[in-house]
Amino acid sequence: MTETSTYTKTARWLHWAVAVLIALMLGGGFLMEFMPEDNLSLTVMVFNWHKTFGLLILVLSVLRLVWRLTHKPPPLPPEITGFAKLISKAVHILFYVFMIGMPLIGWAIISTSRFPSKLFNALPLPKLPILRDYSG
Ligand code: HEM
Repeated sequence: MTETSTYTKTARWLHWAVAVLIALMLGGGFLMEFMPEDNLSLTVMVFNWHKTFGLLILVLSVLRLVWRLTHKPPPLPPEITGFAKLISKAVHILFYVFMIGMPLIGWAIISTSRFPSKLFNALPLPKLPILRDYSG
């Protein structure tokens, strides 16, 4: 594992890319609740871009996890010890669980629908094979 005294450029780039995307996704996700009912094509387009950026977060987060596991991060400040150190580690792990779990759950949910989803609002988005369509 590579040792560094600071986070690598790649780690910092991945951190901010994922942070900005998640912030946009949270805001956009809530706005999706208020799409105009008389403009279906706009709604479909906004949902397709939500799914596309969600899957981009998934890819970047997996890359980030691989990078994190193969590159030792800089040590915590020496005043952070014991319980605080444990909590810090737990929060880091939880963030990875959410960053990877949330897009996977979104993907799993749309995999139960017969409605076709499109990456970049153009390419067919494959459904996860673990779930069947029970919608009738
Ligand atoms: C980190 C990634 C993601 C974040 C932060 C996120 C966030 C959100 C938020 C905040 C909502 C609105 C929830 C509400 O107000 O009820 C939402 C809805 C939705 N998301 Fe995501 N999402 C992510 C990834 C995905 C992915 C990857 C997909 C599908 C491939 C997806 C599909 C959906 C769908 C279909 C809805 C609408 C659910 C409904 O109201 O019927 N999301 N998302």
